[in-house]
Amino acid sequence: MSAAQKKLRQLLETEIQFGLSEIPRPPSPSKAARLAALCPLSGTRTQVVFGSGNPEARLMFIGEAPGFEEDKQGRPFVGAAGQLLTKIIQAMKLTREDVYIANCLKCRPPDNRNPLPTEIATCSPILKKQIEIIQPQIVCALGKFAAQTLLSTDEPISRLRGRFFDWQDGIRLIPTFHPAYLLRNPADKKLVWEDMKKIMQELGP
Ligand code: URA
Repeated sequence: MSAAQKKLRQLLETEIQFGLSEIPRPPSPSKAARLAALCPLSGTRTQVVFGSGNPEARLMFIGEAPGFEEDKQGRPFVGAAGQLLTKIIQAMKLTREDVYIANCLKCRPPDNRNPLPTEIATCSPILKKQIEIIQPQIVCALGKFAAQTLLSTDEPISRLRGRFFDWQDGIRLIPTFHPAYLLRNPADKKLVWEDMKKIMQELGP
């Protein structure tokens, strides 16, 4: 018997001497607690950021998770990274109303930390349903979390970006760098522009 087992035995023997006849079950969590556990970020987010744009879009952009501004406004990509994404979309001679924009997570992780695997597992069925409903011609995955989630891979974004993958139902998926990464690494904007040109070519006129 291990030291921990001996200690437990002594504890139980003492409790029995004090009248313990059965070990009480821990109380089961309330329904409210069980509902909250379905969406672990529901306790810290301000609102759900579901997605925005054209449900008939031929092109979808998928990011990581709402940040501070998105959580406040309820729309994806409206902060600094979002402004850069808007410029990229405009450089493609499109508008945000032509495309559909969504994220892997629908709720902001506290302090903008990276999404946890459990949070991605909770939210990704909704993201996949959004794509299945919209049926775009092309999905552009922005950054490692979107690319790795949708392609079920852990290959680094530097190796995934700029390549077309056949996703499902004839939908083509191309990963590129996340606009927030470009704000920190502006020299890589030219690589993203190469990827956008591939998308424009694939979309055609
Ligand atoms: N970054 C994301 O990935 N999504 C947003 O909506 C905003 C910033």
